[in-house]
Formats: sequence, structure tokens, C-alpha cells
Amino acid sequence: AAEIDHNGTSPEKLLAPVLSTFWDQPESWTLETYRRHEGYEGLRKALAMDPDDLIAYVKESGLRGRGGAGFPTGMKWQFIPQGDGKPHYLVVNADESEPGTCKDIPLLFANPHSLIEGIVIACYAIRSSHAFIYLRGEVVPVLRRLHEAVREAYEAGYLGTNILGSGLDLELTVHAGAGAYICGEETALLDSLEGRRGQPRLRPPFPAVAGLYACPTVVNNVESIASVPAILNKGKDWFTSMGSEKSPGFTLYSLSGHVASPGQYEGPLGITLRQLLDMSGGMRPGHRLKFWTPGGSSTPLLTDEHLDVPLDYEGVGAAGSMLGTKALQCFDETTCVVRAVTRWTEFYAHESCGKCTPCREGTYWLVQLMRDLEAGRGEMSDLDKLNDIADNINGKSFCALGDGAAAPIFSSLKYFREEYEQHITGKGCPFDPAKSTAWA
Ligand code: NAI
Ligand code: SF4
Repeated sequence: AAEIDHNGTSPEKLLAPVLSTFWDQPESWTLETYRRHEGYEGLRKALAMDPDDLIAYVKESGLRGRGGAGFPTGMKWQFIPQGDGKPHYLVVNADESEPGTCKDIPLLFANPHSLIEGIVIACYAIRSSHAFIYLRGEVVPVLRRLHEAVREAYEAGYLGTNILGSGLDLELTVHAGAGAYICGEETALLDSLEGRRGQPRLRPPFPAVAGLYACPTVVNNVESIASVPAILNKGKDWFTSMGSEKSPGFTLYSLSGHVASPGQYEGPLGITLRQLLDMSGGMRPGHRLKFWTPGGSSTPLLTDEHLDVPLDYEGVGAAGSMLGTKALQCFDETTCVVRAVTRWTEFYAHESCGKCTPCREGTYWLVQLMRDLEAGRGEMSDLDKLNDIADNINGKSFCALGDGAAAPIFSSLKYFREEYEQHITGKGCPFDPAKSTAWA
């Protein structure tokens, strides 16, 4: 790892394990283990509050959505109209599929009760009596574990009728998706949950107004909801004492790529990649960071010049990217950026749902150009063409997938144009793929 000046803060203090605190204990996923770690205490406190006060409390904690967009969680709950006579729903988006993002699935595997407790709290707040978890279908072991945790929660009286004697009734349904990236987009997810082909809906109306079965619906990410019990249990002031003013609290970072110890790291928002690398053993021995993604491939690439950017919504935004899902994919100097971007572009073209022309056609064209450039068949004019096509996708597509496809193109051209040119003038890739384990 690079030399770090911690300004007097030890690496241990930078870590704030809350969600991951007992992940390494035997049978960490059981109700018994969860209860030993103050499990369902936050729920007891929540049920003693008025639902409106509970929403205000979560709003004041400053918790922001952990699915990528960072929308304030309490505010989303507040959008649900009260006294409208319609059913209200909570849908937990567990369709984690953003390249490099691996925090919700490990969280569900190691500590599913934190999500279930958060769900009961959220449903009490928004007056919902039916919640859904839409899980990425490929992760069958997680599905089984989740089913088992839900069964335990029903048996213990945390789900079902008259929860903990409060009068709250809540049914929880776990639904497994069928493996389409687009079904992580909240409105496509709702279509899929209703039994239709998953394609994004026009927003507005946002799900808070017309969501599942056209009823007011909160769609929240797994980590967002799982963070709520600790906020209730330890207090909003504890939560705001971590992180930065506009991005308070702790969060899970997914560190991957050419690093010595890939995995999930929990810490406050606002720490830097340099600090995370320092804590985790740095890049693989003998290599240095070349480029990285702050929040998966849908967020513009950053370089080693950005090691000290605070990993919060404002800090990463000021550096020209987005915090997104906090999926820190790190690539060293052996990686061909053209090759990496080609793989991501193929992913977006494959996952494009085909509903709108800029994304459906544009991602296909991008793949043709990128493959030619990677193979040394490109021309200098292709670089302007790439930029032009990405420009015609970005902001002109129906949903965020189109913008995500454009992000690696723009940012790689911005920081690594010379490398693209080398592929053209040298009529081939100057890198040896065998040296780059992540892409070999
Ligand atoms: P968005 O900013 O459009 O919306 C965020 C949330 O706020 C949504 O739930 C939306 O319904 C709500 N919202 C926004 N304005 C509202 C209003 N006026 N009234 C009521 N509700 C409102 O972002 P979007 O398109 O939902 O998500 C994009 C993000 O998803 C990207 O930043 C990306 O990082 C992330 N992403 C995450 C993936 C994952 O695997 N976790 C996969 C792909 C993308
Ligand atoms: Fe479908 Fe892509 Fe259009 Fe989104 S941007 S609606 S994924 S075609």
C-alpha cells in the first residue's frame, strides 16, 4: 500500500463495523445469533413511536439510499400518502447486479435478520401490511437462507399478525428474479414482480405514488433498510457522528480487482480509497493502481490522481464521477483500459432491454467500435464517433442503463485517449492479457 498520512486516525478507528460486525461468527445468520447482538431491539423502540415521528427520525438521521442514487430514505417514506385508502407496499431491491457490486448479497447471506428487522420498521412507518424482497435469482444459497430467516421471524412473532403485541400485521414475500440486470431498475423490477416482462416504466409517477399494482410503494435497497435498526437502536446522533455532513453514517464498500484482499469493507462514508487500500493490504504486490470505479462500471472511471477523493456523494461528484454502489473495482498498470471498457460495453449491450432506441441501437454500435479498437482495426475518427454515440445515449435514454453505458466511454477517453490511439497506430493491443489476472 502507498504511504498514508492518517492525520492521527488509526486504521482501526476508520472502520465502523455495524452491519458486518458478526459476519465471521459461526451461524451468524440465525435469529439466535442476531438476538445476541441486540437484534430486534431497534424494532421495539420503533414500535413505541408514532409512525410519523419514526419517519421524521429516519429523515433526521440523514440516511441516504445505498442502492446507488443516494436519495434520502426518510424522505422517500414520507412521500407515501396517508389516509388514501389504498394498500401500501415496501419492495426491497435485492437484485444486486451492478458490475463489481457485492455487498447486499453477502449481507443477506451473513445477516438476513438485519434486513427483516428493517423491513418491519419501515412497514410500520409507511403503514404497509405486505412487503416483498426481490432477490437476484442466481443466488440460490442466499434464497434458501432468506427463506429460513423469514420462517424464524414468523415463528418468533416478528412477522405475521399483531407483531410484538403492537397491532401491526405484516406479510413478507421473498421473490426470486430471473437474472436480468434491468430488473434492478426499480420500475422494471415492479413490472417483473407483477409477472410481466421487466422493462422500465415512465417516471413520474414515481413508485411512491403509483408503484406495485399501481399503489403507493417504497422501493429501497437492501443495505438502506438493513441500516435502519442500528439507527433506531443506537440513535440518530450516533449515526450522524460518522461520515460527512451531507452523507452521514457507515456503509459497505465492495473492493475488488487487482487488490491484495478483495472483499466487503465497512466504514464511514467519506473515507478515501487510499485509506481503504491501506487497511486492506493495498494493490497486489509489485503493482500500482491505474484506474478504478467508485460505484461499479456505471460510474465514470477515476485514476490514481483520485486516491484521496472522499468516498461520499459530494466528494466523488466533485471529482467528476458518482459514488453509486461503492463498488471499488481497482485495476493496475497491466490492464488495458480499452479491453476493460469493451467488456463493460458488451455487458450493457447484452443487458439493454430494447425499449428505447438510443440505448438499444447505441450500445450495439459502441460494441462494434470498441471491438475494432481493441483488436487494432480502429481509425482515429472512431474516437470522435465513440464520443458522439455515447453523447447520443447519455441523458437521451429512457432509464439509467443508457447513462451507465456511456460513463466508461466518456471517462476512459478523457483519461486514457493516448492508450486508444496506441491501439490504432500500433494496430493492436500493447498489453499482455496474461499479466492482467482480472481480465485474462
Ligand atoms: P433516481 O435518482 O432516479 O431515483 C432514486 C430514488 O428516488 C428512486 O427510488 C426514485 O423513485 C426516488 N425518487 C426520485 N425522485 C423522486 C420524486 N420526485 N418523487 C418520489 N420519488 C423520487 O435513481 P435510479 O434511476 O432509481 O437509480 C440509479 C442508480 O442506481 C445509479 O446511480 C446506479 O448507481 C444505481 N445502480 C445500482 C445497481 C445495483 O446493482 N445496486 C445496478 C445499476 C444501477
Ligand atoms: Fe431499456 Fe436501455 Fe432504454 Fe433503459 S435505456 S429502457 S435498458 S433500452
